[in-house]
Amino acid sequence: MSVSVFAPATVANVACGFDALGFAIHEPGDEVIVRKSGTPGLRITNITGDGGRLPLSTEKNTAGVSALALLTETGYAGGIEMEIHKKMPLGSGLGSSSASSVAAVVAVNELIGSPFERGELLRFAMEGERAACGVAHADNVGPSLLGGFVLIRSYDPLDVVQLPVPEELWCSVIHPHVEILTEDARNVLRRRIRLEDAVVQWSNLGGLIAGLYERNYQLIGRSLNDIIFEPTRSLLIPGFDMMKQAAMQTGALGCSISGSGPSVFALSRGEEKAAEVAAAMQTALTKAGLESETYVSSVNRQGPVVRIL
Ligand code: HSE
Repeated sequence: MSVSVFAPATVANVACGFDALGFAIHEPGDEVIVRKSGTPGLRITNITGDGGRLPLSTEKNTAGVSALALLTETGYAGGIEMEIHKKMPLGSGLGSSSASSVAAVVAVNELIGSPFERGELLRFAMEGERAACGVAHADNVGPSLLGGFVLIRSYDPLDVVQLPVPEELWCSVIHPHVEILTEDARNVLRRRIRLEDAVVQWSNLGGLIAGLYERNYQLIGRSLNDIIFEPTRSLLIPGFDMMKQAAMQTGALGCSISGSGPSVFALSRGEEKAAEVAAAMQTALTKAGLESETYVSSVNRQGPVVRIL
């Protein structure tokens, strides 16, 4: 028996919720396939879609690290082979390492008889984030694992809140063809924040959460502002200002950096508007001579898709 799990990409931070908020989209995402083997231990036997850049060594691979954390806690002593099929770009700001980690822990858990509930797998997937960028942030792995909009209310102790998703909320994502590693994008962040800026930021976060609960699209739009991190990080993203201007002029509710970038997301009311916004953002980037791809998606409430092969 083999278990295949597809885990979705995610938009983390969602403007004002740095390290605290994220949501899942339908595509892209990563697939992990696991099966039992006669050789004890976890082995990664094949990785595709990474251009040969990711390590096969279990202890160095984020999916391997996450799965090992799970297996260590259960004391499982059998053999497992793992294949990782990357179906999204590395360093894109769409939670590439998270999707692999989530797919790995869900697949391994299923293979060994589901000793953990879905939500309990989060802390194992977070170990993959620690390996990837030095910080076990959960605003990508949380929504990839649980689906929908997820708030990390506290990291210690871990307290994760699933938020309502307004029916007509759609996301446009544009991925400019440059790579930014999360670790690098975290190193440019200022460590001290003015009190006045903090007030603006947490007021917007409160507004965004209230907007989700009230299904109030205008309030969601007014709250999608990041005055602390976007001004610094956007300097790393070619064409950011043009993309944002194009999104807002086309009628997006709001627009900001997806995770640590370079992908940029916009939220809109309805699929048609989200498609228009994605096209306008891409046109702006093309005019600046930059290649990109776009994704248009409703918020993915389902999370990982498990198939027994
Ligand atoms: N919250 C993380 C960061 C997300 O912004 O660094 C990384 O995708």
